[in-house]
Amino acid sequence: MQKIALGRTGLQVSRIALGGYPFGGLNRANDWDPWSEEGRKSAIATINHAIDQGINYIDTAPGYGEGNSERLIGEVMKTRRDECVLATKVRWENMTKAFVIESVHESLKRLQTERLDIVQFHGGMFTAADYEHIVKGGPLEGLVELQQQGKVGFIGLTSEEPWTARQFLSHREFDVFQLAYNFIYQSAARHILNETKEVDAAVVTMRTMTSGIFQRGARYLAPEWQQAKDLFQVCLEFVLSDSRVHSAIVGMRWPSEVDLNVKLVNDFKPAFDFAKLPRMTVDVYRAEDAE
Ligand SMILES: NC(=O)c1ccc[n+]([C@@H]2O[C@H](COP(=O)([O-])OP(=O)(O)OC[C@H]3O[C@@H](n4cnc5c(N)ncnc54)[C@H](OP(=O)(O)O)[C@@H]3O)[C@@H](O)[C@H]2O)c1
Repeated sequence: MQKIALGRTGLQVSRIALGGYPFGGLNRANDWDPWSEEGRKSAIATINHAIDQGINYIDTAPGYGEGNSERLIGEVMKTRRDECVLATKVRWENMTKAFVIESVHESLKRLQTERLDIVQFHGGMFTAADYEHIVKGGPLEGLVELQQQGKVGFIGLTSEEPWTARQFLSHREFDVFQLAYNFIYQSAARHILNETKEVDAAVVTMRTMTSGIFQRGARYLAPEWQQAKDLFQVCLEFVLSDSRVHSAIVGMRWPSEVDLNVKLVNDFKPAFDFAKLPRMTVDVYRAEDAE
């Protein structure tokens, strides 16, 4: 699996990362229960298989199943920590510096490691007040202290509304931006990705496969698309075709799903850089290509 430098962190990561969300909770449609003995074994097999296949970047959060995702990943980290770039998250809303430090210590225990490569403020939409709180109210200070102690490698944030993450770009403490960016939600393309590129911040996508929303919609609206091309492939190839994206986090439950995505990445050679796609009407009309 091809590796890429994760922006200015210099970490070498695979082009897809293993998303830890599915290891957190039940999924009735998929008959998936990561709390059961069988489900635990299945999740651990998927994590091991992903690493075996060259996926060296794992993303999780304390909030995924009240620590269940971190605990399952920790079972594997016990013996394979050095093979992975490990990222988790921390809550910050109304939280103090002491809470942030405590939360990271709890994550370290569940993940059975002494250091985390990346810790991100787990966010959705950051208002100006949220920004003030994070950078001046204690949470950032907490992570910087842990970074100085060698317990945290790099600091980042995650955002469902990427344009609200822009305000953090001037703070060089924030090296990693995990952004919702996919085939149907392209706000990041216009509102932050040029700026992250300018400062060489790391960009990883979340909801890479649209969390299945696009595929589900298409099943009703345009069932014939399913025969034309695998819509999960379309989604993955879309983000990997944007030169401003370093790695794409994908939720993968089963070893077979890992194999599908590893094959997609290994077989894919981008033919067009979506960073160059005209996105304003005026630019579309100015474009020289006939499409
Ligand atoms: N920071 C945040 O607030 C935040 C929010 C969302 C996600 N994330 C991170 O990003 C990761 C990915 O996001 P996500 O899990 O919401 O959505 P996603 O990666 O867009 O979609 C994941 C789902 O797509 C399906 N899938 C993946 N590859 C497939 C393939 N080749 N063929 C068919 N189906 C495939 C799987 O479905 P099945 O369910 O059928 O297995 C999987 O659960 C999360 O696990 C998490 O680490 C972070």
